Amino acid sequence: MDRTLTLLGIESSCDDTAAAVVRLGSSGPEILSSQVLGQTALHAAFGGVVPEIAARAHAERLDGVVEDALTVAGVTLDEIDGIAVTAGPGLIGGVLSGVMLARGLAAARDLPLVPVNHLVGHALTPRLTDGIAFPYLMLLVSGGHCQFLLVQAVDRFVRLGGTIDDAPGEAFDKTAKLLGLPQPGGPSVESEAVLGDPKRFPFPRPLLDRDGCDMSFSGLKTALLRARDALVAEKGGITVQDRRDLCAGFQAAVGEVLAKKTSRAIDMVGDRPTALAVAGGVAANKTIRAALEAVSARAGVPFLAPPLRLCTDNAAMIAWAGIERLRAGLSHTTDFVARPRWPLDDRASALLGSGKKGAKA
Ligand code: KG4
Ligand code: ZN
Repeated sequence: MDRTLTLLGIESSCDDTAAAVVRLGSSGPEILSSQVLGQTALHAAFGGVVPEIAARAHAERLDGVVEDALTVAGVTLDEIDGIAVTAGPGLIGGVLSGVMLARGLAAARDLPLVPVNHLVGHALTPRLTDGIAFPYLMLLVSGGHCQFLLVQAVDRFVRLGGTIDDAPGEAFDKTAKLLGLPQPGGPSVESEAVLGDPKRFPFPRPLLDRDGCDMSFSGLKTALLRARDALVAEKGGITVQDRRDLCAGFQAAVGEVLAKKTSRAIDMVGDRPTALAVAGGVAANKTIRAALEAVSARAGVPFLAPPLRLCTDNAAMIAWAGIERLRAGLSHTTDFVARPRWPLDDRASALLGSGKKGAKA
């Protein structure tokens, strides 16, 4: 590394408006700032992210968030060496807001502009936080994504498998809705599950009998709905303990599917990966995290979970992906389009359905 690189990152592909400044110097990377302005309250009344509301909020707030990121970092645009922006996949209105701002700033300052795939941002985060070497296995589990990636290089990813329908975070959110718990569903279902019996409702473990590491979570939500309705039909309602047991049963099923498929993904890699890294909001779940750690330990693969603020959507990961690309000599360009769909691995089969972020990557 011959010189320090300082990048501004911009992220607006779902419901977080984010900007960050990351610097790579001789002593390694440093996150100088990472500002994230969430939109949970704006979408709360609708039970999901409304693309038009998200796009408008990004357009209105991005300028301020970028200014904050520069102020907190204590740098001006004069000290920025390049701009990295999420160019997809995601909700296209939001992605466009970020791309237009980044294009404007880059043109005005004559700075290199690096279009970044949001999933690459997540996938390279373990190198920002822990400097791990390629190849490593990454499990991305959030409200919008669920996939196993073998990360071989800055620009080489093999998608080993993923969900064929809902993402696990989406399933947690829908479960919370079905049981009258607050959004986001993950934390509220988890806190109920702690007090419940995970064995009372033996929910299905979809696709465990199938080879490979594809997963399915939408049937689980339907099974939970049926169990809830059966209780209502039988007793006229559900008790507090019923709800805890339903949450515990659901969480146990998600955890077991993720753990077993993770074990299979490790086997599929052949050569032992340097680590199993997780990212995404669902990785915050203690039961699921413990199950994944146990799988890693059994396989003799180090387990790595970046701090939650870097596991969930943020712009530091986008700035870092930009630094990695510039450092690897990968071209930066103003000649790119924003993409609602942008698979990391073109050889992997297309995913069905549509998640919180719109069309699946
Ligand atoms: O990564 P993230 O912040 O945003 C994207 O979806 O990209 O993930 C949010 C998702 C939500 O669906 C939320 O319910 C879930 O992660 N989540 C959890 C937990 N905390 C957040 N799911 C299970 N257990 C949790 N403790
Ligand atoms: Zn994400």
